[in-house]
Amino acid sequence: MAFTYFFRDLQTLEVIRDFTLPYLKTKQFIKIWDAGCAMGQEPYSLSIILRETMGYMYFRNIKILATDIDEYNQFEKIIEEGVYKEEQIRRIPKEIFNKYFKVDKIEGQYKLIDEIRTSVQFKKHDLLSLKMPSNDFGLIICKNVLLHFNEEERINVIKMYYEALMAGGFLAMEQTQKLPKALNHLFEPVVSNAQVYRKI
Ligand SMILES: C[S@@+](CC[C@H](N)C(=O)[O-])C[C@H]1O[C@@H](n2cnc3c(N)ncnc32)[C@H](O)[C@@H]1O
Repeated sequence: MAFTYFFRDLQTLEVIRDFTLPYLKTKQFIKIWDAGCAMGQEPYSLSIILRETMGYMYFRNIKILATDIDEYNQFEKIIEEGVYKEEQIRRIPKEIFNKYFKVDKIEGQYKLIDEIRTSVQFKKHDLLSLKMPSNDFGLIICKNVLLHFNEEERINVIKMYYEALMAGGFLAMEQTQKLPKALNHLFEPVVSNAQVYRKI
């Protein structure tokens, strides 16, 4: 259930970069919620993509809250340390890898540089509790999670996302996760080639 990898669904990450960042950059702080983050590859990929397009001064104002139900209490340590094994970093483009990872003290493991590592904070959180961590997120990314819920649960969780977003904030889901029709009045699509929506 926690299957994930670095730069998964790059198209959606690029839509986030190109279509949400121009608005989010007008804010002093950018708070992002990655809901259902698994071992952290997704929030860290997003962090790297944002850092690639932003100078240090902007980037240090970005905080990504990465949450997961983390049934077996495994993800917090991995995300906090930002250390990944050889097989987990194989898909990362070489120049990105060289820029953002360093050799860890344990052979065959690689550690994210501090600037990226400290942009992501992990918290254990059950989405079905419907308790939002805060109500001022500029972007919520929730990919390959809602498919595990039934229709009613999906609607309730997306309504929570609506409440957790600031005015004009964005919601990004995986390519196959369409917005339920019952919620069409809450969000407008940002593009036609990705499931990225803006709070109305
Ligand atoms: C397939 S992974 C998706 C990881 C990443 N978002 C991606 O797309 O690559 C699904 C994640 O959803 C998490 N999850 C499942 N039910 C959840 C819930 N009720 N609350 C929070 N996270 C949940 C699982 O623990 C798992 O890590």
